[in-house]
Amino acid sequence: MSSSVIRKAVIPAAGLGTRFLPATKAVPKELLPIVDIPTIQYIVAEAVAAGVRDVILICARGKDSIVDHFDIAKELEAHLERTGKLELRDQMRAIAKMANVVTVRQQEPLGLGHAVLCAKDLVGDEPFAVMLGDDIIDAEVPATRQLTDCYRRTGMGTIALMEVPVAETGSYGIAAGTPVDDRTLRIDKLVEKPRKDPPSHLAVIGRYVLPPRVFEILEKQPPGVGGEIQLTDALAVLAREEGLMGYRFEGQRYDAGDRLGYLKANVAYALKRPDLAGPFRAWLSEVVK
Ligand code: G1P
Repeated sequence: MSSSVIRKAVIPAAGLGTRFLPATKAVPKELLPIVDIPTIQYIVAEAVAAGVRDVILICARGKDSIVDHFDIAKELEAHLERTGKLELRDQMRAIAKMANVVTVRQQEPLGLGHAVLCAKDLVGDEPFAVMLGDDIIDAEVPATRQLTDCYRRTGMGTIALMEVPVAETGSYGIAAGTPVDDRTLRIDKLVEKPRKDPPSHLAVIGRYVLPPRVFEILEKQPPGVGGEIQLTDALAVLAREEGLMGYRFEGQRYDAGDRLGYLKANVAYALKRPDLAGPFRAWLSEVVK
């Protein structure tokens, strides 16, 4: 197969964000901040830290402001310069230089598998990462980097796994397989949101490093759960035909697509910020008494 360097990341961002209404009525959910950084910027930063250069955003109507966030804002920069806020100006410029951001539109909401398939021509014949913006992972070694390392070691597509309570297995793709080491397993079973009898408690979290072969599978993939073309179903085929690894990543994951998870992420990230941690911690301990 082609090179083992992962240069491209596909980030699906076409959803309507209905779980976050009314905030997402006019603002794409990807731009909702954790403290003061839009969630999508954490994802792009993680991609870049894994060696990615090209970010392929799967967008939809009304979500162009996500692209603006990664563009040069000339007027804003000029204003910051005039008012002597040079550090802030440089920070704004750095966001525009993080990666090459390109977009493709998913014209109909046909599922995550379909969203990924929209990137087929832009990815071409090379392995690539898929990163879901709802999953924010705070880790010493960025989660996508952990997966690309596993991909390099094994030569096989690798997906992020995390143990979840049994009661939550119906909300995730669930994987089971043969352990290779403490963190790695070779997947032999993969089910999207099992209603009953989950094959394990190991949930798929939104980070994947995949071979281009997955596009061929997706092209033939019939709709699955919820009538949508599911990435998980295509990966079950990939696991059977080519092999697929699951990697239990190190790090703290927040479900930023959920109100409670989003609040937790904000608190956790604020407590890590030198400019906020002290007074925020003091206030929190007062308020939760
Ligand atoms: C998607 C995937 C699911 C995965 C989850 C991780 O589901 O379909 O397999 O476990 O992301 O966050 P969604 O949460 O978009 O319904």
